[in-house]
Amino acid sequence: MNLSKQITLVTGGSNGIGKQLAAQLVAKGAKVYITGRDEARLQSAVAETGAKGILADVSRAEDVDRTISEILADNGRLDILVNNAGFGAGWAELGDLNMDDMLKVYQTNVFGAAMMGQAAANVFKNQKSGNIVNIGSTASVKGYAKGSIYASSKFALRGLSQCWQADLRPYNVRVMHVNPSEVTTAFGKTDGISRPEASNKLRPKEIADVIVAHLEMDDRGFVPEVTIWATNPF
Ligand SMILES: NC(=O)c1ccc[n+]([C@@H]2O[C@H](COP(=O)([O-])OP(=O)(O)OC[C@H]3O[C@@H](n4cnc5c(N)ncnc54)[C@H](OP(=O)(O)O)[C@@H]3O)[C@@H](O)[C@H]2O)c1
Repeated sequence: MNLSKQITLVTGGSNGIGKQLAAQLVAKGAKVYITGRDEARLQSAVAETGAKGILADVSRAEDVDRTISEILADNGRLDILVNNAGFGAGWAELGDLNMDDMLKVYQTNVFGAAMMGQAAANVFKNQKSGNIVNIGSTASVKGYAKGSIYASSKFALRGLSQCWQADLRPYNVRVMHVNPSEVTTAFGKTDGISRPEASNKLRPKEIADVIVAHLEMDDRGFVPEVTIWATNPF
């Protein structure tokens, strides 16, 4: 697809991977909306990227409905949903899991993405076109010690991606699942400040480049899943 003028929503676009992706999509001529919960961070990302900001939490059903309604009221359509909002918490061995942490992570990473996907799918089915990009993780495909909560949430998202591919192909809707390895963002931090770049780690740009390239493929085809590794992480 040609990204110019495509109406795009990047959830969690106020920082990290989502912010970089929003900037690159705006540079391609797309009309991009970003969401986030922290107003100051959202406004600064709006100024940096040229995207439009909607203060919204994907884990709240009313915020999901408001986000999609606002985009439809402005444009009458939606072309691309990027389910990027997500975080990790409650890193612990089995036996020490905190169920409040598990619920919070699932409310954003799984239920939030599912609510957004559902709202977008209803638009896409009517249009007979659309694109969903779910940001998974290498933790979507391999578990590890103390990763029960986060990895299982990303496994669940990968399951949703595969089900949505089956549900939505008859409507000409492409669903792509993207698995970044470690990226030097604010992921896992509470202050929202990105970690410094490191030559052996990925930057948000590598992830955004992959997503843009896959969206730009002609609509007759799509890549169902892609994993991005740092070449030499040691
Ligand atoms: N960085 C990595 O190493 C890595 C690797 C693999 C996968 N990922 C995935 O990549 C995605 C982006 O993470 P990142 O690394 O870019 O982290 P980040 O820099 O912390 O950015 C996360 C963004 O999501 C927003 N957000 C979080 N919860 C939200 C919610 N409930 N509703 C709306 N917005 C929400 C945050 O803003 P507010 O806090 O203001 O809401 C922020 O804009 C996540 O799904 C993450 O799991 C990251």
